[in-house]
This record gives sequence, structure tokens and C-alpha cells, in this order.
Amino acid sequence: MGLLEELTVQTGVLPESITSLTKEEMENRVWKIKKVLGKKLFIPGHHYQKDEVIQFADAVGDSLQLAQLSSENQEADYIVFCGVHFMAETADILTQEHQQVILPDMRAGCSMADMADIHQTEKAWRRLQGIYGDTIIPLTYVNSTASIKSFVGRNGGATVTSSNAHKMVEWALEEKERILFLPDQHLGRNTAADLGVKMNEMAVWDPITEELMYAGDVEDIRVILWKGHCSVHENFTEKNMEHVRMAHPEMKIIVHPECRREVVEKSDLNGSTKFIIETIRSASMGSSWAIGTEMNLVKRLIADHPDKLIISLNPYMCPCLTMNRIDLPHLLWALETVMENRTQNIIKVDEDTSRNAILALNRMLSRV
Ligand code: 13P
Ligand code: SF4
Repeated sequence: MGLLEELTVQTGVLPESITSLTKEEMENRVWKIKKVLGKKLFIPGHHYQKDEVIQFADAVGDSLQLAQLSSENQEADYIVFCGVHFMAETADILTQEHQQVILPDMRAGCSMADMADIHQTEKAWRRLQGIYGDTIIPLTYVNSTASIKSFVGRNGGATVTSSNAHKMVEWALEEKERILFLPDQHLGRNTAADLGVKMNEMAVWDPITEELMYAGDVEDIRVILWKGHCSVHENFTEKNMEHVRMAHPEMKIIVHPECRREVVEKSDLNGSTKFIIETIRSASMGSSWAIGTEMNLVKRLIADHPDKLIISLNPYMCPCLTMNRIDLPHLLWALETVMENRTQNIIKVDEDTSRNAILALNRMLSRV
């Protein structure tokens, strides 16, 4: 490969052979490649992906479903993952050696996952073990790097997703007196609060200042929340809720549990993307909903349910920029490289990391 070509590949810049095509031409080429590769190719897509990508997905799901599908699919040689980096890593950890996981654009990360790096986590763990000894267990939201999952697996903990967080936090609190919940403080706080853990039994670990933020006796702490968040879901506010309640008193508000506590507490319902979709699907005709989650999904729900009034909880909401990195041109590009036997953007988690990360994932998958 020439230098220019190599740089292009590494930075994710699309070649002219792709950018010069019309949308229709690109779509036709993707359909054709799918037909040629048949069962050798599997395209999983997260609910937050754009329609131009989702139309090609062999399966669409939330994080938990996509992890389950990855562990079940042993047939496909190429898994072209339409989601973000941590999801593709999870797929690689759960698939067989002969299967290649490909992320169409390497820039499709997750800002929340990046908020906990392994060095910060190891440091925090040493400090917390100094205080609590063996009475603490780590849990990590799947929205985390493979190294964090590996750390958690090595230390007896498990992964969680937004659809099984209650079950997993309950399990962890039966195992040990307290938990360290990475990296989303909001999902951790919302879940623990639902399970009856009081606010004054929760503390926040700040990885930047390396401080346990808590005013009281540290022995009373049951849940330590990593100070991370989703920059998309943090944009739903109590003010948005007040506006909706005022303008549409009959409207139900449903949000993702990555939203802040105040928002989740005041909503009518909260749950994973799958839960949101199923709730809207089974809602009665003529019902009205304000949804607090990523815009691609909200837009799809609006289009799929013309019999219901659906709006975004925040009318000025931005989409998840990293999820949106995966678009039709990048999908086609990834597929063409597979066809030409020069596959790129392969997500490969090293063996050592995988061995422990799979412990954390399996502790979750065996309980859901
Ligand atoms: P779900 O597990 O609910 O699909 O959420 C994933 C995610 O990244 C939400 O921001
Ligand atoms: Fe990450 Fe938030 Fe985007 Fe989900 S919506 S992928 S948590 S940045």
C-alpha cells in the first residue's frame, strides 16, 4: 500500500471511487455485495444508527441484544459493525477466532467510554481497596473500553447494559458490601436509587482530581459512581420537562437512564433503547410521547408511528456525533475492502485483555 493510501485508510478519508457515487449507486453496490457474501457477512446495527445504514442491517438491537447476537453468530466471517467502537470490541471478544469484526469508521468512538481509562481506574481501585479491602466489587457499563471490561473481569465483577442494570447491581450488592460503578454516574445513580440505595449512601469518584467526593463516614458508602456521563443524554434537562408538561399536559415523557437523576425521576418511564421502542410500539393510538434519547431513534419512531404524537424531549437536540460517523459511504467502503480482500478497520482485542473481559461479559450474559 502506498503512503497516501495508507494515510487515507488510517484517517478514514473516503476514496474518490466512493465519494463520486450517487446515493442510489452506493445503495445498489451494498445490496450487491450483501448478495454475493451471503451468510459470510453479518451486519449488526445499533438503534441509534441512521436509516441509510439501518436499511442494510441483518439485525438491529440495543447493546445487550447486539452482544448476545455476536456470541451466537458463529457463521459469518465478516461482522461489519454499525455502532460505536466499544460495541465492536465487545463483538470481537464474544466471537470466534476466524471471525473478523470491522468498524466502518474508526472515529466512531463513544465519549462516555473514553471517560474511564485503565490507568485512572487502576489508581482509583488501589485507593478504594486501601479504604475498603475486599468489600468492594467493580461493575462496568458496556459503554467502556475492552481494558476496563478486562479490569472488571479480573476483579470478580461484571458488565451491565441499560436493560439489565437493575439485575446486575442487585447481584453485585449481594456479592459485596459496595460497588464501584464505571463509567456512567447517571446510569449507576438511577439504578441504585431505584433499588433503594439512598443518595447519602452514594459517592462520586473524580478521576481527574483522584478524589472520593463524599461528605460523611466512608463506611456508609454502598455505591461509588465514576464521574463519567453521556454528552448526548446530559442535554435533557428539567427545563425541557417543564416545557413539555406545560405545552402538552397529557404527554408522557420517556427517557434513557443515561439522563441525569432529576430528569429520570420526573419522567413517566425510563429504560434502554429496546424498552423505549417497545413502549411506543405497544402504546395506544393517539397517545403522545416526548422521548429523551438520541435523535436518529426518535426520528425513526416518529416515522414508524404516524398514529401517535411523538416529539424529542429537547427540540434542539444534537445527534450522537460518533454514532453518526457510520454512514452509507463508510459502510460501502468497508464492504468493498472485504470484497477486495484488503479488509481494514479490523477491531481486534488482544488475547490477554479478551480473556478477562469475557469473564465480565459472561457474568452478565449468564444472568439475563
Ligand atoms: P442501549 O443499551 O439502551 O441501546 O444504549 C446504548 C447507548 O449507547 C446509549 O447511549
Ligand atoms: Fe456514547 Fe452517549 Fe453516543 Fe451512547 S449516545 S454512544 S453513550 S456518546
